[in-house]
Parts: sequence; C-alpha cells; structure tokens
Amino acid sequence: MINGERTIQRPLRWGMVGGGRTGQVGYKHRTGALRDGTYQLVAGAFDLDAARGVDFGTNLGVAEERCYATYQALIAGETARADGVDVVSVATPNFTHFEITKALLNAGIHVICEKPLFFTVAECDEIAALAAEKNLIVGVTYGFTGHPLVHQMAAMVAKGMLGDIRIVDLQYTHGFNAGDDVGAGEAVKWRTNPATAGATFVLGDIGTHLYYLSEIVLPELKIEKLLCDRKAFIATRAPLEDHATVLTHYSNGARGRLWVSSVNAGNMGSQRYRFVGSKASVEWSDSHPDQLLYDVQGEPNQILHHGMPYLEAEGLKYDRMGGLHTEGLGDAWSNIYLWIAQAIDAKMRGDEAFLATHHYPDIHAGTEGVRWLENCVRSADAGSAWVDFE
Ligand code: NAI
Repeated sequence: MINGERTIQRPLRWGMVGGGRTGQVGYKHRTGALRDGTYQLVAGAFDLDAARGVDFGTNLGVAEERCYATYQALIAGETARADGVDVVSVATPNFTHFEITKALLNAGIHVICEKPLFFTVAECDEIAALAAEKNLIVGVTYGFTGHPLVHQMAAMVAKGMLGDIRIVDLQYTHGFNAGDDVGAGEAVKWRTNPATAGATFVLGDIGTHLYYLSEIVLPELKIEKLLCDRKAFIATRAPLEDHATVLTHYSNGARGRLWVSSVNAGNMGSQRYRFVGSKASVEWSDSHPDQLLYDVQGEPNQILHHGMPYLEAEGLKYDRMGGLHTEGLGDAWSNIYLWIAQAIDAKMRGDEAFLATHHYPDIHAGTEGVRWLENCVRSADAGSAWVDFE
C-alpha cells in the first residue's frame, strides 16, 4: 500500500510545457505529480498564450520569472540556473511532442510526455537513442494503468487463474464528438487535423490506452496480425477517424476485438476491458474502477473490491485508499508519476540494477503504442485488410 512516504532521495524539480488554464489534461498531471512529495512544480511554459501562462503559473505558485513564454525560453532559463528543473512534462498537442522532447533531452532534462508519444516509430527510435546517449528517462502518461486492479488482473493472468487466454475484448468509447465540429474548441480542432494529431484521431487519442493496458495484463501475448476498419462519421474529420474497430490475432491463437469511438452518442461508459480465458474471465471498467468482475465458469460470478486482503499481492501493492474508500483515476495517475520519479531517481543515482526490474511506462511503452497505430493505419488504408504486425 502506498501512503505518501518519500521513496526517492529528494523531490524532483519539475516543470511543465502545456497543460495551461484551458488545457484538458494538465490538471491530471499535477494531480499525479504533486501527491507524494516526489515533485515540486518550479517552472513552466504552460500556454501558447504567454500572458495567460504567466498568470496561470503564478496562481499555481510558480515564481513569475520561471513562467516562460515558450519551451525554448524555459530550457534556456532553467539550464542557466544551479537549481534548474530535473524533469519536464509535455502536455501539448501531439504534433509538438517530438520537437519538445528532443530539445529537453538535448538540454539534459528528463521528460514525461503525453501519448500518443510521436507520429512515427522512427521518431520514437531516435528519441530512445538520444535518451540512452544522454542517460535520461522518458516516461509516458498512460494514466489508467496506474490503477491497482489493472495489476491485479495481470497477476491473475500470470498465475493461471483464467487458464489459457482466448479472447481480448477492449472498448473505449464516448459520444463527445457525435455532433459536427462547427464552433469546436482548440482541443477538437487539433485532434481532427492530421497535421496536428498525426495519422489517427480516436485510435491514437483513446485506443493507445487500451493497447497499453492490454500489454500490461498480457505481457506474453504478441500480436500476429490485425485488421482495422475506421470511419469518419463526421465527414470533415476524414481522413482521420472518429470510430474504429480492430480485430486481432495473437501469437497463442487468442482473438481480440477492440472498439474505439467518440461518436457513441450518449455513452459515458468510457473504458471496458474483458480478458477471457479457458477457465474464467476478468473484466474492469473505469466507470466502476473499484471493482473487478471475476467470472469463473460454472460458479457464481464474483466482484472483487480494490484494497481487500483477498487480492493478490501485486493488486494490493499500489493501493492508496484502502478497501471501502474509492480508488480512481487520480490515484492511478499518482502511481504513474511515482513510478517515473523512482526511475529518474535511480538514473540520477546510477542504480541500473533497480531500473532493470522497475516497472513504469517508458519510451518502449510509448513506442509500442505508435507501432500499433502504424499497423492499424496500414490495415485501414489497404481497405481494412489483414496485415502482419510489424
Ligand atoms: P488541449 O488543447 O486541451 O491543451 C493543450 C495545452 O497546451 C494548452 O494549455 C495550450 O495552450 C498548450 N500548448 C500548446 N502548444 C504549446 C506550446 N508549444 N508550448 C506551450 N504550451 C502549449 O490538449 P489536451 O487535451 O490537454 O491534450 C494534450 C496532450 O495530452 C495530447 O497529446 C493528448 O493526446 C494528451 N491527453 C492525454 C490524456 C491521458 O489520459 N493521458 C487525456 C487527455 C489528453
């Protein structure tokens, strides 16, 4: 169980690029980072609107001279200080991730970057090589996978409690883009433009969460081939999709079906994960994140609650609230930020042995998400053909 005690040598000096007053995801980063005394927010280039960014940053408690107009000014200002930032989070639209991450790494600053990480696997490989050369960490904020019940599912699969895995059923849908984009805000505009979003809309925006979580639960399962069918129900979004289904064949013979959509009108269920084995199934959804359905064939279905002693050790280790009290997305983000802080701390101490076994969403996790997107697009663009996973 996590209780907020510090597990690293000193708090990390932390900055943000993006995540300003109008940004959707910025507060999730601060909720995650500022929980356990592992990060202190000391700098930021929070907003494309520089004046609003300064006003916002100072309201967060950041010194005015460390609220910068651009990420380039942040790098120049912070590297000139003896107490400059150790790590910066990038919470900006997709098309900026690569250049900002590259500049930060070149300046000797660890990076925590949003997903989808970059546009191409080639860019991911370039950043992985740069991070290795500079001896720096790149973390990726797949927030949901910090939830303890995700790790409970992984432990149940690893211990054979489900039997052989047969079916992987993944869904992340909502209806917030069911209408057209006339008068839409910035966050919709950049998400529906290939120049700013990349080669996908919902596949990258929400599908990458499904894919990474399934990798955590099923680390042994590799995709052999997939078929992706995508469509823009709102024609102005084409060639990007607001709806997609992906069929998957896994190396052990398992079959997968994945549905992502932002035009599932009225739907607030958000995410649902069901892993079906030869003996039993587990199912988790972030709409009731405290509960894990455990359905054993031939027995009454069970609801497992987070924080209860009957869970596996792996499912209890990262619990924060304890049974009875709600454990949710903010708690999951705190775990992601904690794990990345521990990785950065180990890097700073030169503790490669710790890093060899420490789990956190790293550059590899970000790269695999982009690889999955590239395969989905290749399939869809070939007329929804089956493609070997490359
Ligand atoms: P948004 O459009 O709502 O906010 C972007 C923020 O970045 C704004 O504050 C904007 O002023 C600022 N910004 C843009 N360019 C900048 C630059 N060059 N320098 C400094 N600030 C800049 O976008 P949203 O929805 O917050 O998404 C940001 C990123 O987070 C995207 O990559 C998105 O895919 C990801 N995301 C991840 C989520 C998760 O659960 N991990 C949830 C929502 C978004």
